[in-house]
Amino acid sequence: MALAMLSLASVSPSASLSLQENFKTNWKSGTSSLINFLGSDFSKTKSYTRTSMTVAVKVSRFNDITMAPPDPILGVSEAFKADTNEMKLNLGVGAYRTEDLQPYVLNVVKKAENLMLERGENKEIPYHLLDLNVLYLPIEGLAAFNKVTAELLFGADNTVIQQQRVATVQGLSGTGSLRLAAALIERYFPGAKVLISSPTWGNHKNIFNDARVPWSEYRYYDPKTVGLDFDGMISDIKAAPDGSFVLLHGCAHNPTGIDPTPEQWEKIADVIQEKSHIPFFDVAYQGFASGSLDEDASSVRLFVARGVELFVAQSYSKNLGLYAERIGAINVVCASSDAAARVKSQLKRLARPMYSNPPIHGARIVANVVGSPELFNQWKEEMEMMAGRIRSVRQKLYDSLCAKDKSGKDWSFILKQIGMFSFTGLSKTQTENMTSKWHVYMTKDGRISLAGLSSAKCEYLADAIVDSYHNVK
Ligand SMILES: Cc1ncc(COP(=O)(O)O)c(C=O)c1O
Repeated sequence: MALAMLSLASVSPSASLSLQENFKTNWKSGTSSLINFLGSDFSKTKSYTRTSMTVAVKVSRFNDITMAPPDPILGVSEAFKADTNEMKLNLGVGAYRTEDLQPYVLNVVKKAENLMLERGENKEIPYHLLDLNVLYLPIEGLAAFNKVTAELLFGADNTVIQQQRVATVQGLSGTGSLRLAAALIERYFPGAKVLISSPTWGNHKNIFNDARVPWSEYRYYDPKTVGLDFDGMISDIKAAPDGSFVLLHGCAHNPTGIDPTPEQWEKIADVIQEKSHIPFFDVAYQGFASGSLDEDASSVRLFVARGVELFVAQSYSKNLGLYAERIGAINVVCASSDAAARVKSQLKRLARPMYSNPPIHGARIVANVVGSPELFNQWKEEMEMMAGRIRSVRQKLYDSLCAKDKSGKDWSFILKQIGMFSFTGLSKTQTENMTSKWHVYMTKDGRISLAGLSSAKCEYLADAIVDSYHNVK
């Protein structure tokens, strides 16, 4: 009988593997083994032979995989869920909530879904509607969605659309669309750098890192003024190698809530053109900055009007509340329709081995809402309502801070910022106090999502901010 005896201290994954081999051999040759690989990590078993004890071993093949840290944004929601304090407030993730702090399903989305049901666009498909792509969508996504999403962004009458100079591919929301563009950059612009604002949305760096695209930062936020470091931004964009990609937040910059003025956008465009850089817009909040879908696309349209080739990643997570549908698009504006066709073919080629083709439900909702004048108007009204609610809590938070803080600190930056977020300027230790003492959950960079704040909680939040700002260093 084959015996195996192990000293606990000497067990290593490779030792366990060779034992496993030994076990197989013995099994085949008709002998029995006392090593039981199915026990808990390490357990002692009795031997029926002269040897008094053997050790059963189960060592994972994944031992070298370390625990990943929680995501800095989504991890905040996990911590919030675990907190049982009734005053708790989740201002981490940028997701719109009602005054009762409930998630909001837009009425226009419900209407579109009802229409889709009535038309049989969901499950029961009449034979004559079989051309509605009821099986897989094509790699580039739903044609009706791709058409309206580009129109929403550039304007339906824009020459780039009329001349078919836009390569639009439906993506897995904003993140997936950014990732697809990053893959295109990695493949066709090897070594080209992407310039990212400092600070930026936490996932941008992950996206370019995972796509193996080098990036560096340009100055954006000035802590002294809690405003835009415009000169720093311009000089960093100028200093970058010609032909770099410049990642720009189309509107409602995340996390700062600070956007360039129209005049500053013109100057940014001048420098980008001088340097032959390629602008790469991330438009995740169209409608949330000003309340107007058109106005919020003006930065992108300004560059398009100058005839610049550019990328735009779009997301419908926030403005249509379609967070979990994962619906968005990557648009590449090209100098010719021929270039657009080639770029589109390569985007499809990159998407195919990543996820093959995108999901249909969100695409149909967007196609129905944007494609119908009645639903589109209703969406605009709801968009204004959501943006208006955020503006009103922004004002109330500012009023409460001014009323409670007698130190003379100027809180007016809160009113100057726009969109879903406010960048409070609180340090990491101050944000930790916000959470540990006040149960206010926010990202460690000092960002709060006003979309998750109600009027009723403004005073409480102001107390928490004043305490953290003045009493924690
Ligand atoms: C700046 C920015 N870009 C892109 C996204 C992507 O979001 P999603 O993948 O949900 O569309 C977000 C989401 O928070 C964002 O803030």
